[in-house]
Amino acid sequence: MQHRVILSVSLGTLAENFCAVRALVSPCAVMPVLKANAYGLGVGPIARSLVAAGAERIAVAEPFEALELLDLGVPIQILSGVLPDEIEPMVARGVTLPLVDLASARAISAAAKRLGVTAKVHVKLDTGMGRAGILWEQAPEVIRQTADLPNLALEGLFTHFPLAYESASAFTREQLRRYRWVLAQAEAMGIHFTWRHAANSDAINNAPEACSAPFNLVRCGINLHGAFDAAGSLRVPLKPVLTMTTRLAQVRTLPPGTPIGYGHTFRTRREMRVGTVCAGYADGLPLALSNRGSVLIRGTAAPILGRLSMDYLTVDLTDLPEATVGDTVTLLGRDGDLEIPVQDWANLKGTHAYDIICSIGSRVQRRFVE
Ligand SMILES: Cc1ncc(COP(=O)(O)O)c(C=O)c1O
Repeated sequence: MQHRVILSVSLGTLAENFCAVRALVSPCAVMPVLKANAYGLGVGPIARSLVAAGAERIAVAEPFEALELLDLGVPIQILSGVLPDEIEPMVARGVTLPLVDLASARAISAAAKRLGVTAKVHVKLDTGMGRAGILWEQAPEVIRQTADLPNLALEGLFTHFPLAYESASAFTREQLRRYRWVLAQAEAMGIHFTWRHAANSDAINNAPEACSAPFNLVRCGINLHGAFDAAGSLRVPLKPVLTMTTRLAQVRTLPPGTPIGYGHTFRTRREMRVGTVCAGYADGLPLALSNRGSVLIRGTAAPILGRLSMDYLTVDLTDLPEATVGDTVTLLGRDGDLEIPVQDWANLKGTHAYDIICSIGSRVQRRFVE
């Protein structure tokens, strides 16, 4: 017996996407951002295949995500911030931390001193994201004060973009100017950062200035999974990584006038051959596919009828007289000449690819294909 809904993650294609990003931004290095269980896909196999493909360091959002990756043998770094009680356990395990203010710098330094180690930190600049970090105007002074703290190594300086999907964004250019100003102030104080980074996938594709000197590292998440922010353009030749399949549970012929699903949002106008498919919103399918999306069966598109429910959806099998119970149903990915990309779901839901990928349900079996 196998799981009904299966998400196949092609590790080979993922590694190809990593190499495509690296080729584009070289000589910058590429740090995979594998937070939230690699955007919900399954961090262990993904992290191992990226390290095998040459990833030299990995970024996550929070301590438990860092703990999971400690045995990979590459530096693991937390991007967003650390709570006071998280500092000592993270320093003890050698996790690289973000430095977001003077108070946390002192706490990290004190923890490292107690433990007899040197804590590596990347100074997080808020140049316009407005989410976390040191306000750029105040950063030179904070950097000056932290540089003298014992057992603390200022290894990196980084910032994050809110609008990098806009090509030639004036605001992104202004953020770059602010970053360079802080960097120059630090260098004038004799403080040099080994790693200098700003670009995420949006900037890799839309802000090439963030992928060259003084920067020597980019942080890449969504592009590795073959998706990108459709609000901007795409420079990396990405390939789709994900295929989501399930099975056909029942095939029926319904008389004219039969209502289908919760809310009766569809009613057959003629005798109609329909299929019941084992997947619903509990598996991460957006409700917005109701009456609008399609699935692929035997290389043919079968439109979704009525409203999706938690575990099942109904499809029109008019063009599929040969479809039978147990058939494979492709929800995302390619079947023959047809393909349903992640972006199709994002468009129907009025969201972006991140939301779709991170929402794939926990009962969906992840299969990693080499
Ligand atoms: C600080 C930071 N850098 C990089 C990334 C990676 O972003 P993306 O998936 O767009 O490459 C994220 C993800 O949201 C982030 O929060």
